[in-house]
Amino acid sequence: MKDADAVGKAGSIECGDYIHVFIKVKEESGQEILNDISYETFGCAAAIASSSMLTEMAKGKTLDEAEKITKMDIVDALGGLPEPKIHCSLMVADGLKEAIKVYREKENK
Ligand code: FES
Repeated sequence: MKDADAVGKAGSIECGDYIHVFIKVKEESGQEILNDISYETFGCAAAIASSSMLTEMAKGKTLDEAEKITKMDIVDALGGLPEPKIHCSLMVADGLKEAIKVYREKENK
């Protein structure tokens, strides 16, 4: 995403893979809404599936709602992942949390 409001970076210490989460935020009725979200993921198929699911789950949510999405929310939405792949979803959830943190720091919110 070329005109992202913020980019969150996260990596998995377990496997060395990483993700960039790009967000665009809009103000609506006094709320900050995730207007758009995309990702660039360097990782396994589970990480890419988790990234795609995260964008589906987070788009249109308020920042407060979106930052509460956990790795297990993503795993459940995918219908489960093998235990050794749970860390892939954690990396993805951390990427969004980081993007929201970066956005808030930038906007002083
Ligand atoms: Fe590295 Fe899944 S992200 S094994």
